[in-house]
Amino acid sequence: AFGVWKALKVEMTGMPELIAQLHSFVGLAAVLIGFNAFAEEGTGASTFQLSEIWIGIFIGALTFTGSLVAWGKLSGKVPSKPLTLPGRNWINLGLLVVIIGCGIWFSNVSGGIAWLPLVLLTLASLFLGFHLVAAIGGADMPVVISMLNSYSGWAAAFSGFSLHIPVLIVTGALVGFSGAILSYIMCKAMNRSFVSVILGGFGDAPAVEGDGPDGEITEIKADELASQLSDASSVIIAPGYGMAVAQAQYPVAELAKKLRDKGVDVKFAIHPVAGRLPGHMNVLLAEAHVPYDIVMEMDEINDDFADADIVLVIGANDTVNPAAMDPGTPISGMPVLHVWEGHEVVVFKRSMKPGYAGVENPLFFADNTRMLFGDAKASVDALVAAL
Ligand code: TAP
Repeated sequence: AFGVWKALKVEMTGMPELIAQLHSFVGLAAVLIGFNAFAEEGTGASTFQLSEIWIGIFIGALTFTGSLVAWGKLSGKVPSKPLTLPGRNWINLGLLVVIIGCGIWFSNVSGGIAWLPLVLLTLASLFLGFHLVAAIGGADMPVVISMLNSYSGWAAAFSGFSLHIPVLIVTGALVGFSGAILSYIMCKAMNRSFVSVILGGFGDAPAVEGDGPDGEITEIKADELASQLSDASSVIIAPGYGMAVAQAQYPVAELAKKLRDKGVDVKFAIHPVAGRLPGHMNVLLAEAHVPYDIVMEMDEINDDFADADIVLVIGANDTVNPAAMDPGTPISGMPVLHVWEGHEVVVFKRSMKPGYAGVENPLFFADNTRMLFGDAKASVDALVAAL
């Protein structure tokens, strides 16, 4: 009932945070079920049963703290910058050795002393979950969410073993495998190494802290933009998280309709991780009745920017950041929308703040970029009125 109440109350924009919270509950439940199963069965249980218990607790504890950190990062309660402790890969390896060692000890010892390795491996797993996710930067969070989804499935499957409930084993395994496949697909879309993300950013080069881009920015007002749009023959709209925050999808849909009625060719460019949830932008645009045939995926539209008269970047930042093409930033290597190739680019945002991954955006300083400052909904409303 609590889950349903929370899910009904939360807006689409807050959905990833809620998902992370719910994963943490699954992890916690798996830990409690494991402890309860051991309290009931004791060390008299078979080695197989005891192994189910400690592996279930291990994955559950990892999922619990990992999901809490992911929730904290997504909701901005914890900085999204990766935590890079010195020797972090050795710390992870050491924790894994402690966990497996305690697991073997637990499965082979009799009497009350068995609680000791169980508690130790639980503490080590809790810390491992925290450390793995804390080491992952904001830009890779979408993959982490689907990875935690997979872990929560495995945690549920092991709870199914402990509780002797086959349907829980089957559904847990389905969630576990589908989450793993989704994580793999997302890693490919973002040009990230699956193994590196699972291992808490193992092998990632540390980001180089630079001075960030500087230079002059040029502002534009809604009236001026409206007259330019009226003269344009092709316009591409690249929406991002800011459109969701501002709830600007309805005026954006109206803007697209107005321009299409004037004979302007309008298309939408959707980055696979724009927003805070896979498919976030597609859902918002569908909600506002934007026709599906003008909503293009990144790979379909990236070559078309060079032919666009005006590109409107509405509340997007990381997903349109040309710095991703350079080495040494947290988003390096991530494919981005090539909005800067448009003849003119107009960026709708409220300030010069960086996007989710905390990387400065040289797009704002480009010669062909104009900044339209203000809440995206208010700006698009003004634009529609001026048109
Ligand atoms: P972001 O990089 O997060 O940038 C959003 C921009 O919107 C910000 O620069 C912000 O600038 C602006 N904004 C916020 N509220 C606004 C408002 N009311 N009106 C106008 N502008 C507003 O967004 P993106 O380009 O969509 O990229 C998504 C990022 O989130 C990526 O780094 C991605 O990896 C990460 N992420 C994605 C997912 C999935 S699966 N989609 C899940 C978790 C994380 P101001 O504050 O200056 O207005």
